[in-house]
Amino acid sequence: MNNKTVTLNFSDGRPSIELPVLDSTMGNPVIDIRALASQGIYTLDAGFTATASCESGISFIDGDQGLLSHRGYSIEDLAYKADFLEVCYLLIYGELPTLEQKSVFVDSIRHHSMLHDQINNVFRGFRRDAHPMALMIGVTGAMAAFYPEAQDVFDPKIRDLAAHRLLAKVPTVTAWAHKYNKGEPFVYPQHSMGYAENFLHMMHATPCEKYEVNPVLARALDRIFILHADHEQNASTSTVRLAGSTGATPFACIAAGMASLWGPLHGGANEAVLKMLEEIGDVSNIPEIIKRAKDKTNPFRLMGFGHRIYKNFDPRAKVIRETAHEVLNELDMNDDPLFRVAMELERIALEDEYFIEKKLYPNVDFYSGIVFRALGIPPSMFTPMFALARTAGWVAQWAEMLSEPTIKIGRPRQRYIGPQLREFVPIDKRGS
Ligand code: CMC
Repeated sequence: MNNKTVTLNFSDGRPSIELPVLDSTMGNPVIDIRALASQGIYTLDAGFTATASCESGISFIDGDQGLLSHRGYSIEDLAYKADFLEVCYLLIYGELPTLEQKSVFVDSIRHHSMLHDQINNVFRGFRRDAHPMALMIGVTGAMAAFYPEAQDVFDPKIRDLAAHRLLAKVPTVTAWAHKYNKGEPFVYPQHSMGYAENFLHMMHATPCEKYEVNPVLARALDRIFILHADHEQNASTSTVRLAGSTGATPFACIAAGMASLWGPLHGGANEAVLKMLEEIGDVSNIPEIIKRAKDKTNPFRLMGFGHRIYKNFDPRAKVIRETAHEVLNELDMNDDPLFRVAMELERIALEDEYFIEKKLYPNVDFYSGIVFRALGIPPSMFTPMFALARTAGWVAQWAEMLSEPTIKIGRPRQRYIGPQLREFVPIDKRGS
């Protein structure tokens, strides 16, 4: 039993407060400040840089060691030895499935992959050129109307069903957002296909000709889904938890997570990498771009390099780099000019003193856009791809929170810095 404490001493003569320090199973201990509120003391930590918003047993990151694990399994082990649906099961239920558990789970996800027929009309309410994230947020939120029983979020069976529905239907919503943008007919999910295989089929098949999914590409995409499945309490996951803490329907909570992911500081970086590579255009322009990235007077940054938490390397980047090579080999695209620019940029940056000294390594987004492009997925769909995969983490974190007996609505405090109470002045008495 840990009895560590920390004492807060105040310079204004109030009595000091002793707070417990809680150990974590991995990572830093946390000071339990819950008793502070009853003493009329709040803490200020905009951006939550030092504040744990919850206790969670799902994923863990050690940025200095370049470690990401889910339920204790390293991301490398999961990426190479499991498939995405096994990882979903692990995230939600805490253990890897047995053969039998996996078969029941996969069957359930397949069974729920079709969208209600009325959902077609929801798509049709959008402009053809709507950003696919707008479509995804709208359609996922609208699903709440089709499954009203999901509102009963304190029933574990109902939560389970909603989690399965979301995992099953979000790929269909994602692919249909793309089809809607293209003006092509929606392609229905195929129960006989694997998760990533079915997704590629819904993205690229048309009613006019048979579309065979390349198994190497399906496996590569499945691995990318694993790499993006969960990542501790990031902005979108925290958004899902905050919305979920009110008891809102899971379809609204996941739509809220998607909205949070949409921002360029979160899910939008992979699109920015591709834009940057296209702008560079040729390896001969790389020295100039590196010079710009190092110039203190220029706000330009090398997109796809650096990470807030991983200061050694991003373990997901190592795996996805290998996957990018596999995909480009399979498609005979090694001489693709954009890929050559990417590989040369990576080589030069990794040898450059500035990037070494600041610990700026390629992150997962540096490679994911390259793979998505090779898979025929347009840049506007990169964030939706991320949302599809992260739905696994979102539903697991949402379900974990709701299963806690002590769940509390998320309600942060603030440090008020506005005017003090003052007299109301009638409009005809206010100065100009
Ligand atoms: N290119 C050039 N210089 C950089 C870069 C970069 N990509 N990233 C950081 N730096 C410099 C920065 O100028 C600063 O220099 P100085 O100390 O001289 O002021 C130093 O490195 C530290 O930067 P920071 O902004 O304090 O670092 P941060 O941890 O707050 O930012 C980051 C992390 C990811 C926002 C940043 O590295 C960045 O903007 N990278 C490019 C965008 C990108 O690839 N984003 C995707 C991140 S992965 C997404 C995910 O995991 O979901």
